[in-house]
Amino acid sequence: MPVHLISHPVAQELLTELRDARTPSPLFRQAAQRLSVLIATEAMRVLPVEPVTVETPLGPADGARVSADVVVVPVLRAGLGMLEAVLSVTPRARVGHIGLQRDEATAVASQYYAKFPAGLDQSFVVLVDPMLATGGSAVAALDLLASRGARGVRLLCIVAAPEGIREVEAHYPDVQIYTSAIDSHLNAHKFIVPGLGDFGDRLYGTL
Ligand code: PRP
Ligand code: URA
Repeated sequence: MPVHLISHPVAQELLTELRDARTPSPLFRQAAQRLSVLIATEAMRVLPVEPVTVETPLGPADGARVSADVVVVPVLRAGLGMLEAVLSVTPRARVGHIGLQRDEATAVASQYYAKFPAGLDQSFVVLVDPMLATGGSAVAALDLLASRGARGVRLLCIVAAPEGIREVEAHYPDVQIYTSAIDSHLNAHKFIVPGLGDFGDRLYGTL
């Protein structure tokens, strides 16, 4: 399964800010948004376009318009920290939501919400979740999307663990992952090392 690593220097600087435990929530949110624009831009590189012609002040010019129906699906709650950034790249996208919560003791994710736009089988679906740890949440989200007909989903994350990448690959070999880091491993509590801690808590100041 292709894993696309976003190695742009600006992306790496923003990731470093997110990793830094001293970064407060307002700056964490800002860095997450800016980094997500870079990740989303790379993931959208393959969007199909149709030709259009516009009139510049000097005459006609050939142009392009994105022709795909894009559906962005953030995994609540941490995925919300990337949503507006992805929408800034594809403003006409429709949005679905999946609510998943990892049990603190077992790290097993359970679903508490799901709502999708119609026609996912015809859409370019972008799943957004900043942390790919065990991969349990990603696979649960991909199961829901697959049950609605979504194919060839792009998964956008900020930090991925090798364990999570392997888990997604085992279940969905056609899913392409875009991430700004592939970290070392998971610790005994299934947190990514070195990672950046609990993304949702740092995003919303619920530590
Ligand atoms: C975090 C993160 C992912 C999940 C990753 O969410 O946003 O959804 O953990 O872990 P996994 O790969 O082992 O499943 P969490 O369940 O902590 O919920 P939150 O976003 O509401 O904080
Ligand atoms: N969820 C997070 O927010 N961080 C991790 O390291 C693992 C899961």
